[in-house]
Amino acid sequence: MENVPKEWKTTDPIKPVGRKQFMKMVLGVFSPSWAGIAIYPVYRYLSSGNSDASSSQTVSSVTVCKVNELPVNTGKNFQFGSSPALVIHAQDGSFHAFKAVCTHLGCTVQYRPDKSLIWCACHGGCYNPDTGKNVSGPPPKPLPALVVKVENDSIVVSIS
Ligand code: FES
Repeated sequence: MENVPKEWKTTDPIKPVGRKQFMKMVLGVFSPSWAGIAIYPVYRYLSSGNSDASSSQTVSSVTVCKVNELPVNTGKNFQFGSSPALVIHAQDGSFHAFKAVCTHLGCTVQYRPDKSLIWCACHGGCYNPDTGKNVSGPPPKPLPALVVKVENDSIVVSIS
């Protein structure tokens, strides 16, 4: 201690920080981050709900593909505005289309040619591919139907 310069010496000893004081310091530093983490998902949810509604309203029809690109007993997922959708070429040659959002918890559904069903991989929910009616598993409601027309050899899906 003899070799320490005079200006470095202090009369105030360094006080140890207590547990409570340390926790206050940590909370003070990280509180803004925690608030951001908590608020941001709520903000995203609320803002995406508004844009989904406006986007769905702006899209009234989608040309999905050519008829020969969708063989009998196959389905094709596509985007209908901001929402996933599904068109199916049924075994009787007819076409059916639905919003492809599972009515259980919102997973995207797909057509299963091996079972001739619309299937949700999340919890095994099944829908009738002709009507969109929920037939097994947890989905509580049918899939919302869309209208399919063949125009100039193309499959066109619309709201009405
Ligand atoms: S989200 Fe489709 S069955 Fe659960």
